[in-house]
Amino acid sequence: MTWDTITLDIDDDVARITVDRPEQLNALTVDTLEAIEEGLTEAAAADARAVVLAGAGEKAFIAGADISYMVDLSTPEAQAYAELGHRVADAIESFPAPVIAAVDGYALGGGCELALACDLRIADESAVFGQTEIDLGIIPGWGGTQRLPALVGDETARRLIFLGERIDADTAAECGLVGEVVADDALDDRVDELAETLASQSATAIRAAKEALNAAGDGPAATGLALERRTCAGLFGTHDQREGMQAFLEKRDAAFE
Ligand code: CAA
Repeated sequence: MTWDTITLDIDDDVARITVDRPEQLNALTVDTLEAIEEGLTEAAAADARAVVLAGAGEKAFIAGADISYMVDLSTPEAQAYAELGHRVADAIESFPAPVIAAVDGYALGGGCELALACDLRIADESAVFGQTEIDLGIIPGWGGTQRLPALVGDETARRLIFLGERIDADTAAECGLVGEVVADDALDDRVDELAETLASQSATAIRAAKEALNAAGDGPAATGLALERRTCAGLFGTHDQREGMQAFLEKRDAAFE
């Protein structure tokens, strides 16, 4: 199967899914999310023993959900979009083999959230992370309110989400958001090396370990995830959501209520 918005390569038991909208910094449209979901299904059917999620181009891993799509969404439409984003994050989290986020450039909003759903995050020195939804008058809608505190702790998660702070790769590593930072020209080699090592382990044991880790008590709570979808969707149609997204598209500062 082929897609307009992603590429899928499977080689030596390692699947690489690359979001391929570099002109829009790999922002995630409905089509793109559906393509990632289908790519993961195809990778699972091919018994991939490790998956790499990456973004095309030099500037971004994924700069978030597509704001030009979201700007005029109603609450029910935003709820459907959040359900789709959650489905993709859940498909990553429950994939029966490790998924590595190879983060070069921006991992913002929904891009950061898909990285959070991965098993491991490797960033290059230029990577920038952030849950920047507050600048758009909304909140993280694809799992960030639940998965981020589990990784970085409650205080840091609140700072990142309340302030929309963008942090560099070293800061992300210091707070536990990424496991490893490598030089800009070393990301692909390091990720390939790690993926090959993971693929050479016992697939059965890795799958069991992943299931057990996912079931750990401090993992994302289903009720919290459901609340996040409802709350984020409920902000669509408010003055601040319309203004925040319109301001981004018009390249000006937002005037919030
Ligand atoms: N949605 C749609 N288009 C986006 C986008 C996004 N999230 N991010 C970037 N783009 C587009 C820009 O509109 C621009 O398009 P044009 O060339 O047609 O104008 C193109 O990508 C290049 O972007 P910039 O010109 O803005 O590039 P820059 O280098 O000046 O800035 C950036 C890069 C800091 C990442 C900036 O693009 C930016 O702030 N993007 C928005 C990031 C963001 O807020 N993400 C969160 C989205 S909300 C979300 O994800 C909700 C959720 O929880 C699921």
